[in-house]
Amino acid sequence: MTPPDSTNNKPGSFDRSALVRGLGEAPARLTDLVAKQAQDQGHALYLVGGVLRDLLLGGGSADLDFVIESDASAFARGLQKRYGGQVHAHKPFGTAKWSLNAESADRLGLPLDDLPQHIDFARARKETYAEPAALPLTMPGSIEDDMQRRDFSINALALSLSPKARYGQLLDACSGLQDLRNRQIRVLHERSFIDDPTRILRTLRFATRLNFEISAQTAGWLLHALPLLGRVSGARLRNETKLILAEELAGEILLRLNDLGALKAIQPGFYMPKRLASDLKRASKQAPPWRSPDHDALALRWCLLLAGCEEPVARGIAKRLDLNRRQTDSVIATCRIMAIAEELADPRLRPSEIAPRLETLPSTALHAGWLLLHDSSAAQERLRLTMQRWRTIRPCTNGHDLRALGLPPGPRYKQILKRLRGAWIDGDVRSCAAEQALLQQLLESGEFAPAVQPGARLL
Ligand code: CTP
Repeated sequence: MTPPDSTNNKPGSFDRSALVRGLGEAPARLTDLVAKQAQDQGHALYLVGGVLRDLLLGGGSADLDFVIESDASAFARGLQKRYGGQVHAHKPFGTAKWSLNAESADRLGLPLDDLPQHIDFARARKETYAEPAALPLTMPGSIEDDMQRRDFSINALALSLSPKARYGQLLDACSGLQDLRNRQIRVLHERSFIDDPTRILRTLRFATRLNFEISAQTAGWLLHALPLLGRVSGARLRNETKLILAEELAGEILLRLNDLGALKAIQPGFYMPKRLASDLKRASKQAPPWRSPDHDALALRWCLLLAGCEEPVARGIAKRLDLNRRQTDSVIATCRIMAIAEELADPRLRPSEIAPRLETLPSTALHAGWLLLHDSSAAQERLRLTMQRWRTIRPCTNGHDLRALGLPPGPRYKQILKRLRGAWIDGDVRSCAAEQALLQQLLESGEFAPAVQPGARLL
C-alpha cells in the first residue's frame, strides 16, 4: 500500500480493508471490538506507532499499540471485564498491557493462534526532559502532544478509531506520510537526540531495516549528540542494543554505529569486528552438531558481538551495558576460547590438555566459538568433543576405591583420578580393565608416592 495522500495537519483517511490486509482478519476484528468499546464509552482512541507505520508501508506487524485520551488502565480493565485475559498497568507512564488467553479468545469469538499475545494501551501524554539523557517527566496530554514527544516523523502518525465520526482519519501533524513516501528518517526537533540519545541507535536501526535515508539535518543533530551516549544508563542502552541484535540486519546496523563513533561513545574500546554481519548470519543458518537444551539466542548474539574484544574490554562493556551474570559469563568465556584458538587447532596438544580449558565453559560460549572458528575444522572438532564426549567422561575408579587400596586421602586422589580421566579423554584407555591396569602402573611407578606394594589387589 502506498501511503495515502495527506498534507501537513490535514488528516488523510484509511480504509478498514487495509487493516484486514495488513493485520490479518482476527487482529483487525480485535481492533474493531476495541474501537467499539471506546466509541460506546465516549473515549478518543488511536492506533499508533510501528504497527501503523508498517501498515502504511504495506506490511504488517503483530504488535498493536493504542493511545487513548483518557485513563488507559481503566479502559483496559473494562476490556478485561468483558473479554477476560489479564491487565498489567504501569502507573508512572499511564500505560496498560492487556494479555489475551484462551478464555478471552473464546469470549472475543476469535482464534487464539491468530491473535497477538497482548495489546498495549497508553494514555496520550506530554513529556518534558529535566536534563539531557534523563528519563522524561510525563503528564496527560492530547494526541497531538503524544505525537510531538515521539522519535521520528514516521512513528508520529495516529489512526483515529473513536469517536465513530472520526474513524479512519489519519493524523499526521509531523509530516510522517511525506517522509514515508520519501523514505526518510527525520527527528521532530533539534533537541530530540539530546533529550533521548538512545534515538541515535534507533535511527540506524530503522534506517537500515527500512532502507531509508537519514535526513541531512537529522544526521547533523545526531553527530552532535554522540558524546551524550556516555550519559545514558546501561539498562536503556542494553535494551536498544538487544532490539538491534534481534534485527535481521543487526551486523550492518552495528557496523554503521561503529563507523559513526557511537559504540566508542558508549564505552571506550567498544568496536565492531568487520566480520560480525557474516557471523550473525551464520548463527541464524547453522547450528553446531550437538543439542543445547539451554540454547539462548540472545546470549549467543552478545557473545558474537563481543568475541573480538580483549577479555578486560569485553568485561567493561558487559558491565556498562548491565548484562546479566549468565550473559557476561558466556561473553567472557567466548573471549577465552578466541584467545586460545590456535592451541585448539594444534595437533601437538593432546585432548586431555585441551579439555580442562573448555569443559567448564558455558555451552553458549562453546556454541559461539564453534561458529566463530568455522574456518578451523580441528578447533571445531575439539569444541564438539567437549560437548558430546569429554564433559561426561568419568573414570571407573573413585575415591572410595583408592581408599580401599590403602592410599591415605589427600591431594594425590585428585591427581590420580585426573590422570585416569585424561587417559579416557585421550583414548588411551577404553575399558575399566584397561583403566585398572593403568592405575596399577601409576601406583607402582612411584609418581604418586608413597607407592603401594607392587602386586596389591586393585578394585
Ligand atoms: N518511541 C519514541 N522514542 C523512543 C522509543 C519509542 O518516540 N526512544 C515511540 C515511537 O513512536 C515508536 C513507539 O514509541 O513507534 C513504540 O516503540 P517501539 O516499540 O520501540 O517501536 P516500534 O516503532 O513499534 O518498533 P518495531 O517496529 O521495532 O516494533
